[in-house]
Amino acid sequence: MSTPTRAAHEEMPPIPATATAILRLASNERVGVDEIVDTISTDAAILSEVLRVANLAFVGVRGEVTSLKQAALFLGFKRVAGIAAAVALRSSLGSLWSAQEVRRCWLHNLATALTAEQMALVLRLSPDEVYSAGLVHDIGRFVLIIKHRNEYVRLLRERPAEEKDFRLRERERFKIDHTAAGRDLLLSLGLPPVLAQVAAGHHDTPRRGASDTIALTHVACRAATAMGCGTIHVDQDQLPENPFTDLVDLLPADHREPLLRNAESLKNVVTTLVGAYERAFS
Ligand SMILES: [Fe+2]
Ligand SMILES: [Fe+2]
Repeated sequence: MSTPTRAAHEEMPPIPATATAILRLASNERVGVDEIVDTISTDAAILSEVLRVANLAFVGVRGEVTSLKQAALFLGFKRVAGIAAAVALRSSLGSLWSAQEVRRCWLHNLATALTAEQMALVLRLSPDEVYSAGLVHDIGRFVLIIKHRNEYVRLLRERPAEEKDFRLRERERFKIDHTAAGRDLLLSLGLPPVLAQVAAGHHDTPRRGASDTIALTHVACRAATAMGCGTIHVDQDQLPENPFTDLVDLLPADHREPLLRNAESLKNVVTTLVGAYERAFS
């Protein structure tokens, strides 16, 4: 893993309290539905908005969602947490959320979480930790959006050809890139160290023997991008038919065939859900 540029914690702007509380819960494997319902219910505006988004995203699939408990039972509390964190971030970002590039940054986190979750299910691994890792892997972008606002949005619009060039520009302009900013935030929140590791190294090719969470999140991030899900600039004609073709060699040998075989259905699940989220958050 490369070492991202360090930054002083004290320079980091706080992510809003409700969003951090929700992210904490989403990252805790032992949390119960009641705790997440209690946390979201403390903020009436967020509560009603989560229900609105859940209904917009899933109406016709599961019927009407009228309570958080019901949403958590239908969708799983991790997915509810992903919606709730987006709603909490949106309320703190104000007019910045109207920038498509900002919304797509969060959609990419959701898409990576869903892709990692679906990969884990195909591979008969636990989906919880990889979902959390996907949800926060690019949280550093939001640290920089909240701190630098339109200056960071302008950078998002510049379309650097390669991700490493983008991180270079982040370091040039803001003295830190989003991987280090995300790592610093997650460490300061006391979340499981593996999540900070994922945030810090999600663009690095996983080493042989890397944990499932690190390897799956890296591949999920790239596969979500290859599906055109939540990426800032999408050229549909350039997307590969099978998002895993160029990626499975990064995973252990016994993971490759099941992912390639299930790619089509996995892609359908992820693109359908992300499309629904995108409509609901527009
Ligand atoms: Fe990233
Ligand atoms: Fe990513």
